[in-house]
Amino acid sequence: MTAHNEAKKEDIAKIVLMAGDPLRASFFAKKYLKNYKLVNSLRGMLTFTGYINDLKVTVMGHGMGMESIGIYAYELYKFYDVDIIIRFGSCGGYIKELNLFDLIIAEKAYSESNYGLGFNNEINDTMEASRDLVEKAILASQKLKFMQKTKIGKIHSSLWFYTEGFKTQIKDYVDKKIIAVEMESYALYLIAKTLNKKALTILTVSDNLITKKEIKGIERQKGFIDMFELLKEIVTNLN
Ligand code: HPA
Repeated sequence: MTAHNEAKKEDIAKIVLMAGDPLRASFFAKKYLKNYKLVNSLRGMLTFTGYINDLKVTVMGHGMGMESIGIYAYELYKFYDVDIIIRFGSCGGYIKELNLFDLIIAEKAYSESNYGLGFNNEINDTMEASRDLVEKAILASQKLKFMQKTKIGKIHSSLWFYTEGFKTQIKDYVDKKIIAVEMESYALYLIAKTLNKKALTILTVSDNLITKKEIKGIERQKGFIDMFELLKEIVTNLN
């Protein structure tokens, strides 16, 4: 147990799937896990452990932002001996070619954050997902015939959801070959690298900052089903 996680060590699987919203994690767990049980609810960060095709899997919320995911991911890797974390979340498109409901396999995450100062003074502004997980995600997308709406690329782990008088333009990010924005993966990849563990993020495009389109209300729930199926397919091929 840690200050932020009351689960017993044996109740956390080696593979953990994480969503920012604990209710989304809960929805996934109840839909896809067999014989699941709630193993942690501190701060409402609902955590379930169960089985996907006989593979033990934990599904957990991680909150918003790098500081939040950083705490949970570090503890999972370091104190619960977790090997793999796959984050599934939403993102905003930075290029008009990204349609709502498109899927992104985030092979790289950029951030202007100095988060790495706490991790061996890492100064690299771009962190990478585990290559074998990226490959497995691509294979899973191919198998599900999702490739047409799947993009593999670099995302921005932003420090800001709201800004005022922000000098940087989306164009500056696009010049760095960044296609979409979320707020967590840079920290996740950095911590995985530091602790010699594996990490990947897959995302659904929930809004587009160029076209100003966004998924609203009930569509938001339906819209994530393809990502859930992709996630299940990736996990199925992990053993
Ligand atoms: N910004 C940051 N994170 C996000 C966004 C966004 O526009 N959309 C979904 N997650």
